[in-house]
Amino acid sequence: MKEKILQLLGNAQTRFISGVEMSNHLGISRVAVWKHMKRLVQEGYDIDSSPKGYRLKSCRDLLAFTFERGVSSIRFLPIADSTMDRARELAKQGAGHLTVVIAEQQEKGRGRLNRTWLSQKGGLWFTIILKPDLPPQLSFKVNFAASLCLARTLNRLFDINARVKWPNDILVNNKKLVGLLSEMETRGDMISFVNVGIGINVNNHPEQDEPNAVSIRTLVGREVSRREILTTFLDELEAMLQDILEKNIIDLWKEQTSTIGKQVRIETLNNVYKGVALDVDETGALILEQEDNTTRRVIYGDCFHRENQS
Ligand code: BTN
Repeated sequence: MKEKILQLLGNAQTRFISGVEMSNHLGISRVAVWKHMKRLVQEGYDIDSSPKGYRLKSCRDLLAFTFERGVSSIRFLPIADSTMDRARELAKQGAGHLTVVIAEQQEKGRGRLNRTWLSQKGGLWFTIILKPDLPPQLSFKVNFAASLCLARTLNRLFDINARVKWPNDILVNNKKLVGLLSEMETRGDMISFVNVGIGINVNNHPEQDEPNAVSIRTLVGREVSRREILTTFLDELEAMLQDILEKNIIDLWKEQTSTIGKQVRIETLNNVYKGVALDVDETGALILEQEDNTTRRVIYGDCFHRENQS
């Protein structure tokens, strides 16, 4: 019932829906509608109630919605520990390809290498459950496809110069706009699911805590719609994932990267490597020319461009 109510409110955008209309549509009494609304407000949903009925509070980017959209289904949570955990549970329970879990705020947002990811209101914090028909050794294609599609989406919507940084971040003017974190589960020699967690600084102010981060709001000088970012990106990703086996994602990704040619520092759980990023090979590994002129192939890690450590 909760999901149905949120769907109704979300579809009505900021229009009021009367208690009678709700009760007819949902097949429950007006008192029951009122009780559900009270509970939703207690859970943190931004709902206006007036003699005209109920509506989601007028906010330009209207994120608070839960709906079915083509093959994907979007679940909104006002607050979560981490969307990664919720998405993992849902994926195990059989949630379908392209199911999205979004949280307005995360109390335990996670970054790569077990770092904390600050997730204040106004950002876009979500995890997409993907169930591609791929063997685990090709899962890198999904992660590179996600960062590539997101950079393209942000450039198209806001005319900014978003560039991908190995392995999966997105930078603008060397400042971090987006972080991606991916978790995979396999069964036999196939992927059961790859959950791609994405944190985008949209209308929040990350600069206060992270001097090397930036938000879209700062870049374009106004609040923007998170809903539009999410839906445009999902369309782009869905198209990209079709026939992904045949696509050379790494070549497309390389057209959009700012890492190649840069002096970099790469932190893994146990090591730090430094040198010049020469290339990204066809498996997504970074080819590094180290300071002693030897070449190293790095398959994971957090990469910092050395001019500003972003
Ligand atoms: C990184 O740059 O270290 C990756 C950051 C990934 C953050 C996102 S926000 C949504 C999802 N839930 C999390 O707890 N983390 C990812």
